[in-house]
Amino acid sequence: MSGFSHVPVLRDEAVKFLNPQSGKTYFDGTFGGGGYARAILDAAACTLWAVDRDPAAVARGVEMVKKYPGRLHVLEGRISEICDLLAAEGVTRLDGAVFDLGVSSYQIDDAARGFSFRHDGPLDMRMGGGEKTASVLVNTVSVSELADMLFQLGEEKASRRVAKAIVARRAAQKFETTADLAGVIRSVVRPDKSGIDPATRSFQALRIAVNDELADIEAALAQASSLLAPGGRLVVVSFHSLEDRIVKRFFANASGRAPGASRHDPAGLNAQAAPMFRLLTARPVVPSDSESRANPRARSAKLRAMERREELAA
Ligand SMILES: C[S@@+](CC[C@H](N)C(=O)[O-])C[C@H]1O[C@@H](n2cnc3c(N)ncnc32)[C@H](O)[C@@H]1O
Repeated sequence: MSGFSHVPVLRDEAVKFLNPQSGKTYFDGTFGGGGYARAILDAAACTLWAVDRDPAAVARGVEMVKKYPGRLHVLEGRISEICDLLAAEGVTRLDGAVFDLGVSSYQIDDAARGFSFRHDGPLDMRMGGGEKTASVLVNTVSVSELADMLFQLGEEKASRRVAKAIVARRAAQKFETTADLAGVIRSVVRPDKSGIDPATRSFQALRIAVNDELADIEAALAQASSLLAPGGRLVVVSFHSLEDRIVKRFFANASGRAPGASRHDPAGLNAQAAPMFRLLTARPVVPSDSESRANPRARSAKLRAMERREELAA
């Protein structure tokens, strides 16, 4: 056992919106520690296909699969490959899909995974195998690419200052550890009133870039919604504004709530005649005060849900 654990965020709310029914088939794109998966399987005698790109998460699933024989299937893969992963298993229709985005506490709290500025470890940040590490990015990309990345993916206002400090330091000595990088960031970014660590935004940016997270979310929402049967629900929990912006825009388009005719389409030719989805959350659902107090990771969480409409008669 690793000794780490993950407290699921908005789990009960996610399961309520997913509304699992006996005999139906569901999908969990972010298996993690299996907290959502267990709650879904306990809510109804349904089947659950779960995916995680992290082999350690999939390995944790092996024991859980034994507890739900024939009902839980855990696959290793990325949420941008849902259609292919499920088609290979003969699954082409889902009655609901859930995503609890971002990193798990198993990943963040394990110094060896290199996600954390609190625990020193190798500058890695890969959720799965294969991709480039944070160390490669920090030690090789140009100052302007680095500044853009920190600004766009971390919303770091001091992005140029941080990028210059990183490039100046790596000329003398390459970065190898999270503590080393965090120290350089802290030396050029003053803490603000929020009290959050000045390295937070830059670490978020690097993690998103290393794992190409935003492109995966876009692809996942499109693929999962294409697999949903009428009445099927899509439930997404996001943890920062970049994730939530993608989810919000996707849901608005799918439910016909996107802003009206654009100057690129003045006649509304591309507007959907009848939206395929109905929003279930006019405003995002957020954790209760008690959940946020008990679990600081929950503080920025937002849940959005929508439901596939019944097929219209031809
Ligand atoms: C917040 S955790 C999920 C926790 C889970 N709901 C639970 O209750 O234990 C997110 C998980 O999603 C996985 N993940 C994130 N992005 C992914 C992607 N693009 N493809 C596949 N898995 C991803 C991470 O590896 C991590 O294990």
